[in-house]
Amino acid sequence: MKSGGYSIVLFPGDGTGPEVLREGRKVLDALAEGGPAPWRLDERPGGARHYQETGREVEPESLDAARKADAILLGAVGWPGVSLPSGDIAGAALVLGLRQSLDLFANVRPCRLYPGVVHKISGDFRQVWSPEKVDFVILRENTEDLYAPLHGRLTRANETELAVDTRVITRKGAERIIRKAYELARTRARGAPEDGVRRLTCVDKSNVLEGCRFFRETFDRVGAEYPDIERDYAYVDAFTQWVVRNPERYNVVVTTNMMGDIITDLASVLQGGMGFAAGGNIGAEHAMFEPVHGSAPKHAGRNDVNPFATFFALEMLLRWIAERHHDPSLERQAARLESAIGKVLRAGTARTYDQGGTVSTTGAGDRVAEAVRAEAA
Ligand code: IPM
Ligand code: MN
Repeated sequence: MKSGGYSIVLFPGDGTGPEVLREGRKVLDALAEGGPAPWRLDERPGGARHYQETGREVEPESLDAARKADAILLGAVGWPGVSLPSGDIAGAALVLGLRQSLDLFANVRPCRLYPGVVHKISGDFRQVWSPEKVDFVILRENTEDLYAPLHGRLTRANETELAVDTRVITRKGAERIIRKAYELARTRARGAPEDGVRRLTCVDKSNVLEGCRFFRETFDRVGAEYPDIERDYAYVDAFTQWVVRNPERYNVVVTTNMMGDIITDLASVLQGGMGFAAGGNIGAEHAMFEPVHGSAPKHAGRNDVNPFATFFALEMLLRWIAERHHDPSLERQAARLESAIGKVLRAGTARTYDQGGTVSTTGAGDRVAEAVRAEAA
């Protein structure tokens, strides 16, 4: 354990972001009971509402704290009608800005259906997919592609003639996310649920796009160093149907930024919806974890959204710090949290409206905090 504890900067953000992060804090507090807390929490304002009030999306000293922190936890940003002069969502500084400035090149998004959770494919809570068939991770490149800040308009006589978004795929960018994906595939000893194969799937549109051809070439070149990992390929359009029809085939998936943005939302349907989808934005030196869902303005203040994505984000956060600092006690805390989450989900005692239940956000947080206490430290 680090003396003084690991510093975790929290940005609750907008809408339901503060509601789910409040439950996250509750769960962290439960984990820390009975001893000195292994972490220090440093909560900071930021987002669209903050921009509305101050003209700044986030305070410079908060960005400084985030840069110095051991890890960052983000709630959600965005509010209807509030945007930046550029047209970007206000609060983007906390998402896109930190991804760029801290070079968080890997967006790691696990997709796993836990026993007791109902996937959202049919919309009527019938169970089509069983939990043991949905267990893969999508790695989304997080700093380039269409998200590279190379956009522009050509305006003549006050009229837009042309708008351009430049798709950038670099050798460095492709190589590092692909390498991370092969490494991850190596650590997943169980492989794909279908056949136990340690498969890595490259999702692209290399039948059309040059950047994707380069990405796939890089995938093959780096793959030569990983003969133990099966190389698999899917065009993104075909992947969208295969992943729904046959999710058990997938183990680790690697793709470019924008395609990763889209297919991870799609895949969340297999894991019970966006209420369960967590992601880690991970670089060489920094990392930021978040529930993938947005600020859900319609639900803000109603205390009814599903906080489990935040609990999973916290589990990822603890594991990342534990690995980086070779801290087995923190690793045990992460395992304890995972076990507590799994028990509550299996028992079905914390189902929020999106799972057909009536439990509140606070209620779901209480159940997980109780389960954490009951779980041996
Ligand atoms: C995500 C979000 C962001 C993205 C938005 C909020 C800019 O959709 O994290 O998936 O497009 O990456
Ligand atoms: Mn998205």
